[in-house]
Amino acid sequence: MSIAVLTPLTARRGGPLKGRIRVPGDKSISHRALILGAMTVGETTISGLLEGDDVLHTADAMRALGAKVERTGEGAWRIHGVGVGGFAQPAGPLDFGNSGTGCRLAIGAVAGCGITVTFDGDASLRKRPMRRVLNPLEQMGARVVASVDGDRLPLTLKGAIDALPITYESPVPSAQLKSAVLLAGLAAPGETTVIEAEATRDHTERLLKHFGAKIVSKPHGDHGRRIVLQGQPELEPANVVVPADPSSAAFPMVGALIVPGSELILDAVMTNALRTGLFATLKEMGANIETLATRDDGGEEVADLRVTFSALKGVDVPPERAPSMIDEYLILAVAAAFAQGTTRMRGLKELRVKESDRLEATADMLRVNGVKVEIIDDDLLVYGTGSVTGGGEVKTHMDHRIAMSALMMGLASEQPVRIDDSAFIATSFPDFTGLMRSLGADLT
Ligand code: S3P
Repeated sequence: MSIAVLTPLTARRGGPLKGRIRVPGDKSISHRALILGAMTVGETTISGLLEGDDVLHTADAMRALGAKVERTGEGAWRIHGVGVGGFAQPAGPLDFGNSGTGCRLAIGAVAGCGITVTFDGDASLRKRPMRRVLNPLEQMGARVVASVDGDRLPLTLKGAIDALPITYESPVPSAQLKSAVLLAGLAAPGETTVIEAEATRDHTERLLKHFGAKIVSKPHGDHGRRIVLQGQPELEPANVVVPADPSSAAFPMVGALIVPGSELILDAVMTNALRTGLFATLKEMGANIETLATRDDGGEEVADLRVTFSALKGVDVPPERAPSMIDEYLILAVAAAFAQGTTRMRGLKELRVKESDRLEATADMLRVNGVKVEIIDDDLLVYGTGSVTGGGEVKTHMDHRIAMSALMMGLASEQPVRIDDSAFIATSFPDFTGLMRSLGADLT
């Protein structure tokens, strides 16, 4: 058994954060571009791919399934895919590392092929529920051959030889679940329909269209969508431009809001409305976030954003906003700790099944640094006083976003904040430490 060596890191209060940066490519789009490229005959090219550990695991998995996947330059990748239903039997288990997205989307893609594949991951991913994707995929004809406790990794799936189209009403707001069904639906004849009560990120739908699939998405109810995919398309190879990840931009953004005197420009951040709940919430809290320029980049709207230090106030965040900021509650909680007054974040049940139990982990991160917090049912309450004592050591639980959130807190708190392990930051934001240091952050 190998013994993991932890790499702690400490953030200290110092000067303001200043500069102009572009954060790495969007993680969600990066996974999807690789998977769809692998399901398309011909040459797909990707620029701006996030070269974080999570995405690199997906690239390896696509190779193991028979696609030719090559890196041709920084963020530049070329794929020769095998076509819908064309995946080959891999020689061994596919390892998705820390990545729920890579794993759940690949489970969907494999479910429509008549091969048997074992999916595995690290200790964090092995704890995460897969039942949510297995239920619809079993209806489509896939079969779980082996698993731990019915749905945990390592999990072996036998894909459907003749996948069946289904109409699936998603019981949880999850873009991973929606995407798994749509990717399996590519192999099924006729229409596969996913109905979601609350709209989640739509990158799979947009990219499927970009690759030539017939897919229609219409509003459903107050906040939902009804998505209809025509199965068995001839996907056409495409060029994919990956915009900067708003979920990564969130960290320097909040850093600049809470460190006095800061002024940052974040270049070309994707502003897809299904991803920008954090930006809207921070603005409600009084954040100075100015849109300098907007444009279209590879089918997604992007904007250059100027962020300056701001006096923040506590707000009430409605539950229906959760899907558009599901990965941002940790860093929002840090902003809330530096705000005056109470911030109540409602309806955070899904945070319990992320890379860690993020509801508990966020509360612990704040408590250990002297911030008063409460969890009431699925709501997180942060009692902001405008300043944070700090001085605590934060347990990161193999979760990149806890690590980065805690470090941002340390840049503005009275005492330094230490994290037990910085290694998992590389899953989504490989040069986070270097980039933050280049802005003036004291991270040692
Ligand atoms: C993602 C969807 C979200 C999000 C994850 C990325 C995606 O997960 O938390 O980081 O790319 O589809 P859920 O679908 O489980 O909400």
